[in-house]
This record gives sequence, structure tokens and C-alpha cells, in this order.
Amino acid sequence: MSRNTTKQRGLFISFEGGEGAGKTTQIDRLMTWVHARNDPVIKTREPGGTHGADEIRNLIVTGDGDRWTPETELLLLLAARRDHVARVIDPALDDGTMVLCDRYVDSTIAYQGIARDLGIDKVRTLDAAWGSAGTLPDLTFLLDLPPEEGIRRAQLREGADGETRFEGLDLSFHHALRQGFRNLATEEPERIKIIDASRPVDDIAAEIISLTAQKLAG
Ligand code: TMP
Repeated sequence: MSRNTTKQRGLFISFEGGEGAGKTTQIDRLMTWVHARNDPVIKTREPGGTHGADEIRNLIVTGDGDRWTPETELLLLLAARRDHVARVIDPALDDGTMVLCDRYVDSTIAYQGIARDLGIDKVRTLDAAWGSAGTLPDLTFLLDLPPEEGIRRAQLREGADGETRFEGLDLSFHHALRQGFRNLATEEPERIKIIDASRPVDDIAAEIISLTAQKLAG
């Protein structure tokens, strides 16, 4: 598909965090705000976002914690991302549409690179070549929460989707994950905003909307 060079590229925002951090609720709140401005916007998620990537998601998020080697898990995630970026994210951004994505590259760095111990450099290199291939978020909201609270919330909604593979991993995994995300935010404070997700939903939404408005204002 040829790229549209006349329109301004859409803003790409990702939402990150551990299990049960409230990303879905906050994406919906921001989506409502963007709609009210009459700006074009889509929401999507990873792994997933296309038919094929949703099939890969099913392989990744269900079953036992050790169903896949960490390397296989990474390659599955990157395969799903390539499909998603090529078919949904890049075309939307090229068309001037804002993209709100539930998880993206930072999840791969934190989950597979840090918590699964594959190494940040390896994950970044493979992702840059084969996954995101250069399509990176302009802004990232890291919904930060103590893992004990996140897992508790995630377990409350459990059952409907069977997506328990990561929730079932031990607490040290989730602590490594949280620290990993926080380190990434420290490295890139301009892009990754740490949001205290233990506060009331309305307060969190107000902060996210305010930071998005600032970004849009340039
Ligand atoms: P979700 O529960 O937020 O929808 O995310 C699905 C699971 O996939 C979650 O446990 C985190 C995991 N995941 C990774 O391990 N690496 C990744 O790159 C992505 C996008 C998700």
C-alpha cells in the first residue's frame, strides 16, 4: 500500500502495565474524549488487532506458564505484531488517525526481555527488524500498581476468557515486570509517563487526558 504523504501522521499512544492495572478502562475513557473532539481514532490491542494476530494471541495467553520457551513466545509475539502494524497501525497512522494500543513494544521488553530474561538488547533488535519495524509510540502511559493489587483485580475478572497464563506466574515474575517497566520509563521520560494506577478511575483518566492534550498541542 502506498503511504499518504499529504496528511499529518496520527498520534500513536500505547498503554502499558502489569496485570489488572486498568488499561482497558482508561483506553475507553481517552477514546470518549477524542471522539468528543471529532478526531479520528481507533483502539486496538496486542497481542492481537488482526484476525491472524488474534489467533496467535490465543496461543500465547492460554495454557500453562511454561507452555512455550521464552524464545518461542517472543517470536510468536513479533509475528503477531508484524501483521498488526502492517495491516492496522501503519495504515491508520498514515491516514491521520490516532491509534490507542493496549500494550506494545514496552510489554515485550518488560515481559520477555526482563521478566523472562531474554535480554533487552535482543528483544529490541529483533523487534526493530521484524516486529514494530520502526513504528513506535509517540506517547506511552505506564499504569503502575503494586503487583499484589493488580493480580487481585485480574483474578476478579478471571474465568470469562481463560487468559490466565501470565497471571498464574509467581509474584517475583510480576515484581521483576513492574521494575522493568519503571526502568524503561526512567530511560525515556519524555515518551513514557508513569501513572499511579492505585487512584480513583476519574483521577487517572483526567491525568491521561491532560497529558494527551499537551502532546496534541505540540
Ligand atoms: P492483556 O492481559 O493486557 O491483554 O495482555 C495479554 C498478556 O500478554 C499479558 O499477560 C502480557 C502478555 N504480553 C507479553 O508477554 N508480551 C508482549 O509483548 C505483549 C504485547 C503482551
